[in-house]
Amino acid sequence: MFITFEGIEGCGKTTQIKLLCDRLSAAGANVVATHEPGGTFAGTEIRKIVLRSASGPMDPVTELLLFSAARSELVDSVILPALLQGKVVLCDRFYDSTTAYQGHARGVDMDVVDQVTKIATGGLTPDRTIILDLPVEEGLDRAMSRMMTQKNPEARFEEEGIRFHTLVRDGFLAIAAEEPERVRIVDGRGSVEQTHQLVIAQLKDILPLD
Ligand code: TYD
Repeated sequence: MFITFEGIEGCGKTTQIKLLCDRLSAAGANVVATHEPGGTFAGTEIRKIVLRSASGPMDPVTELLLFSAARSELVDSVILPALLQGKVVLCDRFYDSTTAYQGHARGVDMDVVDQVTKIATGGLTPDRTIILDLPVEEGLDRAMSRMMTQKNPEARFEEEGIRFHTLVRDGFLAIAAEEPERVRIVDGRGSVEQTHQLVIAQLKDILPLD
């Protein structure tokens, strides 16, 4: 099973993936948790280029190609081998982030985004995708307070304004409307535990979560 988590900045994906990973491991499942961009040597190097504030503005197609290059590496060297061994793979962001950020928000032609995505993934699609949804202001507030406590040099996207992040959120909601079976929206405004229960409700038909 291949499960991906998506959402705007500060939506709580990382916390929810950790909780789910612990719960699945406790239930005896063999779980691999990974993230984009990163998870491989090349992916981590690409991450530095694409997320560092110091990189400054970047051509949207360059962004598309960098995220996709990191994805291709992650699919080949981490995700596919784990799936072939029968493991459950949880991934923090996958190609829906590219569709929302580089397609919907940056305006790269969707046919181009789709073609590059197919090349990078070899056609691999998540079995289910959880979008943690919350108002942009709330997400950015959370992301900002996180940035205050731990100085983050990788803030190129957090530095974008409300308008940009609203386009990203609308992009994710549009993806969910197009693919309601694969993509489930979970309300991310509640407590960590409340959100965890909502996540489980959207996955218990395909994962050992009883
Ligand atoms: P990251 O530090 O992993 O933060 P988060 O906890 O928000 O996931 O940052 C990833 C950033 O990269 C995030 O702002 C979204 C952006 N991104 C894209 O624009 N396109 C993509 O394809 C991916 C995977 C991420």
